[in-house]
Amino acid sequence: MNILVTGGTGYIGSHTIVDLIEKGYTPICVDNQSNSDLSVLDGIEQITGVSVQHYSIDLCEIDSLDLVFEENTIHGVIHFAALKSVGESVEKPLEYYYNNITSLNNLLFLCQAHKVSNVVFSSSCSVYGNTTALPVKEDTPFGEAECPYARTKQIGEQMITDFGVPNTWFKSALLRYFNPAGAHESALIGESAKQIASNLVPVITETGIGKRKEMKVFGSDYNTRDGSCIRDYIHVMDLANAHTKALAHLMDEDNTTQIEVFNLGIGQGVTVLEAIHAFESVSGIKLNYTIGERRAGDIEAIYASIVKSTEVLKWKPTRSIGDIMKSAWAWEQVRSKT
Ligand SMILES: NC(=O)c1ccc[n+]([C@@H]2O[C@H](COP(=O)([O-])OP(=O)(O)OC[C@H]3O[C@@H](n4cnc5c(N)ncnc54)[C@H](O)[C@@H]3O)[C@@H](O)[C@H]2O)c1
Repeated sequence: MNILVTGGTGYIGSHTIVDLIEKGYTPICVDNQSNSDLSVLDGIEQITGVSVQHYSIDLCEIDSLDLVFEENTIHGVIHFAALKSVGESVEKPLEYYYNNITSLNNLLFLCQAHKVSNVVFSSSCSVYGNTTALPVKEDTPFGEAECPYARTKQIGEQMITDFGVPNTWFKSALLRYFNPAGAHESALIGESAKQIASNLVPVITETGIGKRKEMKVFGSDYNTRDGSCIRDYIHVMDLANAHTKALAHLMDEDNTTQIEVFNLGIGQGVTVLEAIHAFESVSGIKLNYTIGERRAGDIEAIYASIVKSTEVLKWKPTRSIGDIMKSAWAWEQVRSKT
């Protein structure tokens, strides 16, 4: 079955393509390389032995995207393509609204025109805003979006729902990721964004390898086990597999739910200091970090309830924070040589 993967040369998209191939699907990749590099396709081929069909296309150009639907029979879509930097979205809100909303709008238009159902959408735990209801469940209401990026995810979910509900042939899974991290265990693919890393795990590995002289832990007086913030880190290969499972769930004829939301994390919180110690333990490196003041906008703790995802999707994350650090560190070492 042909699965259109938008944003397929990006971080989560590339790992998901590997999982799709391993489970017998045929991914068709679309990406404009605004935050990724075509070389990731070589890594995918080395891992899977499959040369993935790829279109270098901007999803905001509907005629170019239409060609992909004309040239292929598409059985399902996984829509990763988006701009994703929280900070940049505050500086450039119109770019974020244009890119993330126009691309989704075009995709839904073409799904309608070509009667393509089964759309998996990359959403984010940022739709919950600054929630204090822990663990966060799928029915926890949206909070105030903390930035334009988060709002594009809230709007995206609403667009899919508004389009999907009256079109009874259409089904979609809205996947709310918590903190994706780590790399494929082969170290042939990993996170290689063009943007400067701001997520904790790449900041840790970049400090470990010496790309950064030091890193700062923001806040030590939160009401947590060790005073640092808590997040729910999910290994990118566990996350990738959840997409394959979500697709199978959508394609299951016994499943009549049209639009369904799933949280994807490991269901447990890890503090920033615990993450640092996990890195030190797998790498044998003493990380150069300092403890600083709290950072504006950071929430104390957030982690997912994954009861629904594990039950309905029959999916289970199997990798720990140690596995995340091991794979991320192996990838950082490969990346620093290129
Ligand atoms: N990585 C995270 O921490 C995280 C957390 C929650 C949600 N998400 C969401 O998951 C999805 C994938 O994230 P990622 O970490 O793999 O990001 P990424 O930047 O590595 O991948 C996104 C890809 O989409 C491409 N793209 C962007 N706009 C495009 C357009 N108009 N046309 C064609 N291609 C376009 C980029 O070139 C990039 O390769 C995004 O929607 C992101 O918002 C990511």
